[in-house]
Amino acid sequence: MRAPAGPRPRGPPPAQRTQPPARATAPPRRMRSPPGARSDAPSIPHAVTPATAPAVVRVDLGARSYPISIGAGVLDDLASYAGHVGKRALIVTNDVVGPLYLERVTAALKSAGVAVDSVTLPDGEAHKDLATLNLIFDAALAGRHGRDTTLVALGGGVVGDMAGFAAAAYQRGVPFVQVPTTLMAAVDSSVGGKTGVNHHAGKNMIGAFHQPNAVICDVAALDTLPDRELASGLSEVVKYGLIRDAPLFDWLEAGGAAAILARDRAALTHAIRESCVNKAAVVAADEREGGVRATLNLGHTFGHAVETAQGYGTFLHGEAVSVGTAMAADLSCRLGWIDAGVRDRAVGLLRACRLPVTVPSGMTPTQFRDLMAVDKKVQDGVVRLVLLKGPLGGCVVTGDYDPAALDATLGAFCGRK
Ligand SMILES: NC(=O)c1ccc[n+]([C@@H]2O[C@H](COP(=O)([O-])OP(=O)(O)OC[C@H]3O[C@@H](n4cnc5c(N)ncnc54)[C@H](O)[C@@H]3O)[C@@H](O)[C@H]2O)c1
Ligand SMILES: [Zn+2]
Repeated sequence: MRAPAGPRPRGPPPAQRTQPPARATAPPRRMRSPPGARSDAPSIPHAVTPATAPAVVRVDLGARSYPISIGAGVLDDLASYAGHVGKRALIVTNDVVGPLYLERVTAALKSAGVAVDSVTLPDGEAHKDLATLNLIFDAALAGRHGRDTTLVALGGGVVGDMAGFAAAAYQRGVPFVQVPTTLMAAVDSSVGGKTGVNHHAGKNMIGAFHQPNAVICDVAALDTLPDRELASGLSEVVKYGLIRDAPLFDWLEAGGAAAILARDRAALTHAIRESCVNKAAVVAADEREGGVRATLNLGHTFGHAVETAQGYGTFLHGEAVSVGTAMAADLSCRLGWIDAGVRDRAVGLLRACRLPVTVPSGMTPTQFRDLMAVDKKVQDGVVRLVLLKGPLGGCVVTGDYDPAALDATLGAFCGRK
């Protein structure tokens, strides 16, 4: 079915046109740091005292505005939590992150005068479900936590999404704080208030919007993150570059991505801060995804199909998004909305980030269509997609594309093994 004909805008509509990222802090110098060597990370990281004041990016949402503090050692700093956590806290973590950082976050909160409990969930996307969510409610009720309790999400996007959803629902809503420990969570999932769990029929299908009180992002905590997880988070940084921040894309391409993979802390801090500036600006403009926020889903409609088809946890979220981004770039190019140079740069940078750009074997166009049909962006039966348009850094969210081009993209990717 062809989407209704009409004059195609030559570029993205104004609300979705690339804007210079709104700066919540002084604009950072666009640096091109050379790849740095990774120092040998201890298996259990020691506390790091912040050498310099953390960078702070604000998410501007009126009364619900909050700061994102980014720096090495902020996780141990009671000042990070002060004013954002009440008298009681329930830390939600998992059995991988807990042994690494729970003691330190507990100590920081206690030194800030907070009574602390914790609950440890099983690790992994496969456990991002209602059954595991219930463990948080069990712990909150067993500890007689009331509405004066703050949930503290200590972990990656899975823990953050689940703790946030638990905070949205527990006693009809309690405050929560995000302490992201993956690059994915630092650059994306901890900011913006989207929370939830998966259903076997679809990813993130059950959830709520619930903004955190603060995001405390300790760059040093990424030292223990496996390489594959680091690369996974990079796909969302590439996303900001493609949809609205061409200078960020240029920086990644010119050595920023390589520096991050080499765990250069300055490069990591830069990428996190720039990503948070982008995400904060988009969320402030459109908290509930009525418009421009949907652009953050570049590659996600295809990617969610990959994640669902493979079983949650087989493909990491960022890996699936990378495949989806390559597909979105391919489709945009087939539609004539970007030139082949932009497509090739997108795919080239994803590859340089050591991310997959091909569909897993066995997936078929029909399977993609079926899985994409349950996407949250489907309107009146039409799958709306985020597609690149115009020069690098521009995109649109639309159902008005030639379906034959989508068929061609699905055919090309599913045939290419
Ligand atoms: N809410 C949003 O806006 C949003 C945005 C993007 C992604 N997400 C969600 O985020 C999830 C993916 O998040 P993720 O990539 O962080 O995955 P994750 O939370 O599963 O973390 C990845 C792995 O790294 C481990 N880990 C975390 N921190 C570590 C550390 N510092 N050292 C060593 N190991 C560590 C985790 O235990 C896990 O095994 C998906 O469920 C996705 O849907 C949500
Ligand atoms: Zn994502």
